[in-house]
Amino acid sequence: MNDSSRPEFWDQRYASQRTPWDFGGVPLALRKFLSHEPPASVLIPGCGTGYEAKTFSVAGWKVDAVDFSEEAVRCAHASLGKADAGLVRHGDFFEPNTRGPFDLIYERTFLCSLPTDLWPRYAAQVWHSLRPEGRLVGFFFLGPEPDPPPHALGEEGLAQLLGDAFERIEDEPVTDSLPLFDGKERWQIWKKK
Ligand SMILES: C[S@@+](CC[C@H](N)C(=O)[O-])C[C@H]1O[C@@H](n2cnc3c(N)ncnc32)[C@H](O)[C@@H]1O
Repeated sequence: MNDSSRPEFWDQRYASQRTPWDFGGVPLALRKFLSHEPPASVLIPGCGTGYEAKTFSVAGWKVDAVDFSEEAVRCAHASLGKADAGLVRHGDFFEPNTRGPFDLIYERTFLCSLPTDLWPRYAAQVWHSLRPEGRLVGFFFLGPEPDPPPHALGEEGLAQLLGDAFERIEDEPVTDSLPLFDGKERWQIWKKK
């Protein structure tokens, strides 16, 4: 199973603990962001083990964290514990979401894990899931990457994908990247036009 658009692809990886993207916690840039942002609503697509879901929730945010891999959701529920398991649900980001529109969408290693032909659908779904002037916030994998996934977006590719419908309002280096992403990812904020 080599098709990352299928849940089975991810089930296999979570079940065999081959998850080199898993941060095991919450990256510094997100913790900094949350320290100065008033709470609102956030969608976390492809949330995986879901550490960030709890961090947003503890900071007072209304959270919808979704993953279409049953194994990922199982891992998330195990890591979050009974009290917070409800923060993460099984579902497909590309299906209509009645919980929105959201103030924020948090991105980490979801976009770069999708086959590149799904990227325009990702951009459209993010746009439709955000309220006016809502923001797409998080980590963007620019690459290079000789052996995808993760698929490198490149500076130009990302601007092409998001630039028409969003304005980039923040762009910072990442200081605590995992080896897989080291020197190849940026913390960015894109505001819906
Ligand atoms: C590389 S992992 C990243 C997980 C998490 N964001 C993290 O930072 O650890 C990509 C995740 O996206 C999920 N995924 C892929 N396509 C999806 C879709 N259409 N809807 C929901 N989740 C999806 C996979 O199951 C997997 O958990």
